[in-house]
Amino acid sequence: MMAAAPTASPVLTLALSKGRIFEETLPLLQAAGIEVLEDPEKSRKLILPTNRADVRVVLVRASDVPTYVQYGGADLGVCGKDTLLEHEAEWGGAANVGLYQPLDLQIARCRMSVAVREDFDYPSAVRRGSRLKVATKYVAIARDFFAAKGVHVDLIKLYGSMELAPLTGLADAIVDLVSTGNTLKANHLVEVERIMDISARLVVNQTSLKVKREALRPILEAFARAGQADKAAAAA
Ligand code: PRP
Repeated sequence: MMAAAPTASPVLTLALSKGRIFEETLPLLQAAGIEVLEDPEKSRKLILPTNRADVRVVLVRASDVPTYVQYGGADLGVCGKDTLLEHEAEWGGAANVGLYQPLDLQIARCRMSVAVREDFDYPSAVRRGSRLKVATKYVAIARDFFAAKGVHVDLIKLYGSMELAPLTGLADAIVDLVSTGNTLKANHLVEVERIMDISARLVVNQTSLKVKREALRPILEAFARAGQADKAAAAA
């Protein structure tokens, strides 16, 4: 009888979004011995090879990362806590999504905040108990935040350029990501409440975790070590 052919090593697919998440994940991949061989800013390719025949990167929209990983279109992915919370809310809770979330990667850090026009009296609008019109891409986070404060809000879902909403009268306030604060400043908006700190998380498909455990382990360990090293450097 012929000997069985050696089984090919399982291909791991990592879902990333272009921009900050991609750029800040690269050093973590390097720590795991993985080099991405194409620059997404120069190539139109959506599947990027790496120096490892068994690892590839797929480029998807940030909000699609949890979906790819949940359904197994990718074995693992990196996405912001904001994206993850909105995805879980769509599914009625994290338990229904079933993504394994082993690590806060401490990258792509920013914050989710409430911002209003410089001339808008937010404290008295909130105190009066009037209904606040709030425009945001992050409807679940905004709904939970204002519900916990007991503030009545009308939520207006937008997909980008949230800063325009208070300037055009579409809304009184926005809930959006703030990093440097430059975008708010350039549009004469001020941050009035900080809702939560945001950073990128590693998410892993639960089936992949079982059937590709050996292939995943070194990557998860290297990512965890890189995170620890960053923390130590920040504390020093
Ligand atoms: C985010 C956010 C703000 C901006 C804040 O947008 O929505 O517009 O960054 O950054 P800053 O405080 O450093 O100015 P992003 O560029 O991620 O694009 P998006 O509008 O597609 O979310």
